[in-house]
Amino acid sequence: GSAPASQYDHLFKLLLIGDSGVGKSSILLRFTDDEFNERQLSTIGVDFKVKYMSLNNKRLKLAIWDTAGQERFRTLTSSYYRGAQGIILVYDCSLRSTFDNLKSWLEEVRKYSTNQDAVKMLVANKIDKASAHGVSRAEGEEFAMSHSMLFIETSAKTRKGIHQAFEEVVLKVL
Ligand code: GTP
Ligand code: MG
Repeated sequence: GSAPASQYDHLFKLLLIGDSGVGKSSILLRFTDDEFNERQLSTIGVDFKVKYMSLNNKRLKLAIWDTAGQERFRTLTSSYYRGAQGIILVYDCSLRSTFDNLKSWLEEVRKYSTNQDAVKMLVANKIDKASAHGVSRAEGEEFAMSHSMLFIETSAKTRKGIHQAFEEVVLKVL
């Protein structure tokens, strides 16, 4: 909507990161517009969306930065980590390489996030897809726990977990 600047109590800056193709843009599109695109285009550089929501009788404005996962944008996207209060790190639970790369994403966070208190959430996306080469929920939970992150399973396709993911991050920042 077009709510005036005065009509919210808190502004949150959130960041979506993770390998190309894991579904970051799809998660954001589902959250802000309740849409899903089977042929979502790979993000060039950085995208940005705003979402207003109410939580605990507070009006919240979420400013969400959706970064490109492709390596060639890494220098550009790293400059958007600055000041993020919530960092949502996404992998594709049907594609193990995206899980194996989580450590290098956390290294990016460590290098470029200026906010020591940033809330980090690990998102296992595409749980609608069954895969023999996938990553189990237990592995995801284990990784999240050992790196002090929240954990949730989502599907941008079916909506599962999408709203809850953003709500849990915001509740922890609040
Ligand atoms: P980059 O912008 O390149 O970093 O990729 P991204 O992480 O933004 O991925 P994107 O949202 O573009 O999704 C990649 C592909 O996965 C698209 O074809 C989406 O339709 C598909 N996709 C995203 N989320 C899901 C999901 O939850 N389930 C299924 N089955 N497909 C999904
Ligand atoms: Mg994208």
